[in-house]
Amino acid sequence: MMQTPLLEIRDLNIGFDTSRGQVRPVRDVSYTVFPGQTLAVVGESGCGKSVTALSILRLIPEPPGQVLGGQILLNGRDLLALSEKEMRSVRGREIAMIFQEPMTSLNPVYTIGDQIVEAVTLHQHVGTKEAYAIAEKALNDVGIADAHRRLNEYPHQMSGGMRQRVMIAMALSCQPKLLIADEPTTALDVTIQAQILELLQKLQRERGMSIVLITHDLGVVAENADVVAVMYASRVVEYAKVEELFDNPLHPYTEGLFLSVPKLGESHDRLNTIRGTVPNPASFPTGCKFHTRCARTCEKAAAATPSDVVSITVEGEPVKVLRRCTVDEPTLRQIAPSHWAACHQLDGYDKAPAPRPSLTHRRESEANFVDVGGGDVRAGQTAIPYAKEAAK
Ligand SMILES: Nc1ncnc2c1ncn2[C@@H]1O[C@H](COP(=O)(O)OP(=O)(O)OP(=O)(O)O)[C@@H](O)[C@H]1O
Ligand code: SF4
Ligand SMILES: [Mg+2]
Repeated sequence: MMQTPLLEIRDLNIGFDTSRGQVRPVRDVSYTVFPGQTLAVVGESGCGKSVTALSILRLIPEPPGQVLGGQILLNGRDLLALSEKEMRSVRGREIAMIFQEPMTSLNPVYTIGDQIVEAVTLHQHVGTKEAYAIAEKALNDVGIADAHRRLNEYPHQMSGGMRQRVMIAMALSCQPKLLIADEPTTALDVTIQAQILELLQKLQRERGMSIVLITHDLGVVAENADVVAVMYASRVVEYAKVEELFDNPLHPYTEGLFLSVPKLGESHDRLNTIRGTVPNPASFPTGCKFHTRCARTCEKAAAATPSDVVSITVEGEPVKVLRRCTVDEPTLRQIAPSHWAACHQLDGYDKAPAPRPSLTHRRESEANFVDVGGGDVRAGQTAIPYAKEAAK
């Protein structure tokens, strides 16, 4: 049976007016999230993860922001076509969002209870007493002990992990169908981080909720995602089932991300990060936006005929790359049945079809393709099989 996505982003394009002209933080982004599924969106700082997510809730500031094109369908209904009033009932009730730093989203002068109750009464027609009961249950659900007493506390009386739980309780108190979690655990220590993610998985199983999980932590992706969208320079450059992405990354940027994860049992003075810096939307390179950092184009250039090669300057050094990479920006194509990538140097790319990426896939069982046990695993540095292979 054909499943219909809960959320479907189609060819989204967003511009921001800046003093240096219009920048494009989101270019032709498409992804889908099915009921009960977790889609992870990964990529370095500034690649457009948050702007895409905020646009789902129509929270980008307009101006300077502007939706230049595309659709954001929630159960087939285009959110971009709704009035602000209609949008208000979507926010919180159908789609909830949790942010990286809970302190900025909680109001310091109101108690936790008052804040959750406010969120509850905004969307549900219940009296104050019932709203407090819902708030208390919401705190219980996220594993906060002594919830009744906690309702009367202020945010500063709680630890970071506790505040993040309160944020989640608030986001989930109205039983949203979709939760957007934007770096929900980055500010927390690794034990609390694992607890929060486990909690989200549990609530997802119980409620069939869909999750868009934004993170730059590949360990978090390995343990939580069903499907992964890798973003680079405002675009999705790779899209696959989580197992497939880890087994066989196709885009050189994704390969680079995996290589930059420290390997289990190795000590590191310095992370083997992708050379060069993330380009800013105000000064994207020509052609493939990754060509200034790409190892593949250098390897291919070394074996190519001289007329297909050009020399560019990267951090003051001359580097030989394929001419095509400097003029032709590859779009996302379906290289294998459940694997899309945007690199024209991949086998089969030129003949591959280019439907919008969409996968109904669910991971089979608890993290069975990733071994995180035993080693010295620190925050954001979870060992992944690819890295372990590379270490052999
Ligand atoms: N209000 C704004 N005006 C102009 N540019 C903006 C605005 N908000 C975001 N941008 C730009 O859009 C680009 C994408 O930003 P976004 O916040 O989506 O990145 P991100 O992938 O979420 O990064 P991070 O991992 O750091 O959170 C960035 O270059 C950012 O500078
Ligand atoms: S198109 Fe060229 S520069 Fe871009 S990822 Fe592929 S090989 Fe690298
Ligand atoms: Mg962000």
